[in-house]
Amino acid sequence: MANQPRLEICLIAALSEDGIIGTGHGGIPWKLPRDGAHFRTIVTGKSILLGRITYAEMAGWFRTERPIVLTSNVSFHPREKQSHVASSLEAALRIASGAGDTELFVCGGASVYGQALPLASRMILTHVKTRIGDMYPEAARFPAFDPEEWMIEREDAYHADEDNPYAMGMVWYRRRRE
Ligand SMILES: NC(=O)c1ccc[n+]([C@@H]2O[C@H](COP(=O)([O-])OP(=O)(O)OC[C@H]3O[C@@H](n4cnc5c(N)ncnc54)[C@H](OP(=O)(O)O)[C@@H]3O)[C@@H](O)[C@H]2O)c1
Repeated sequence: MANQPRLEICLIAALSEDGIIGTGHGGIPWKLPRDGAHFRTIVTGKSILLGRITYAEMAGWFRTERPIVLTSNVSFHPREKQSHVASSLEAALRIASGAGDTELFVCGGASVYGQALPLASRMILTHVKTRIGDMYPEAARFPAFDPEEWMIEREDAYHADEDNPYAMGMVWYRRRRE
């Protein structure tokens, strides 16, 4: 629509140094309350896009967030009244635009990150300082991306501590324009 503001796509994820985001048999491979709080701060009150598997893993987590759940199951009903279902990425973008959003946060999982990455102009990635590929042969992975295509706008680094077993760096990326 002519007067609609452009919808910016932002991927938000936590990945290990070897690109792992999920164990491959349900759930993420670490417990990092600092990253959980960071994630909550960024997506509070926002429209967020999730695949049906990630949505199921996060059941009960949503408060003010507006989940858009990607699924091919036409009879799927998310439990939050502020949620939507989309049967394609394009449909999800239409829902967010139609709601007047100017930014959509893509929250996984691997399949959804892979589809949304080419459309994304921002990424907020938590780089978890560990390599865990040997432990999770079936792991879900963040899609490969070329760091040369992205500039870093902000970077916050944290040491491991008694609550967060790994050091981590939160990095705000913006896609370079040609
Ligand atoms: N570390 C992190 O930051 C992070 C964040 C999020 C998730 N994760 C992890 O990622 C893993 C899950 O990733 P995943 O790739 O297996 O699952 P997913 O992306 O969460 O969900 C996949 C499902 O989404 C639906 N879907 C995806 N694309 C679609 C499309 N274009 N049209 C219609 N439906 C579509 C399909 O649902 P139907 O089968 O119902 O059609 C598909 O089976 C988990 O281990 C999770 O813990 C990690």
